[in-house]
Amino acid sequence: MKIVLATGNKGKLREFKAMCEAEVMAFSEILGEMEIIEDADTFKGNALIKARTIYEKLADENYIVISDDSGISVSLLGGEPGIYSARYAGVGASDKENLYKLIDALKEKGVERTPAYYTAAIAIVSKYGEYVVHGWMHGDVIAGTKGEKGFGYDPMFIPSGYDKTLGELDDEVKKAISHRGQALELAKPIIEMLQR
Ligand code: IMP
Repeated sequence: MKIVLATGNKGKLREFKAMCEAEVMAFSEILGEMEIIEDADTFKGNALIKARTIYEKLADENYIVISDDSGISVSLLGGEPGIYSARYAGVGASDKENLYKLIDALKEKGVERTPAYYTAAIAIVSKYGEYVVHGWMHGDVIAGTKGEKGFGYDPMFIPSGYDKTLGELDDEVKKAISHRGQALELAKPIIEMLQR
């Protein structure tokens, strides 16, 4: 069974490839680029849409498709951007535009630092059925950026128990504590079972 990732996000791909012991490839290596409409109202729903769409397009029972739908939620902003994290500054917005929109939203509220958390839903679709697992990472967002590491909102996110942003912390630290890392730990035994 071959593992295919249903994501085109370069930051996520890099992290998945670093975290998975098994060989994984991006769906675009087989199917080319494709736009998937994610119109569910939960991370879980959108993760399933992505994994199902790619599994159906591959039309081959030898594939296990894994997707990740994730985002950041700021309590002070009523949970925004949440499932809209990838398009917070508008459809097609870059990671930088989304990051600065969130910084502006914090400045408008007059806060320098406030609690936030990342969520990741990982969906696994194969001929044996569908599974979804979740992971979370809590911390604070700041109204500015520090560091260049990671991707997306990482330069403004300080994980609980640390005094640096994910833009400053090593990749290994993020790997150990991240929402994606937590969800993948739960997904691993499922993937191993499906490969037997
Ligand atoms: P998705 O590809 O529709 O799941 O969008 C996820 C969006 O959430 C990304 O574009 C990022 O803006 C944000 N995001 C998710 N995970 C992370 C992370 O680990 N670091 C920084 N931003 C993230």
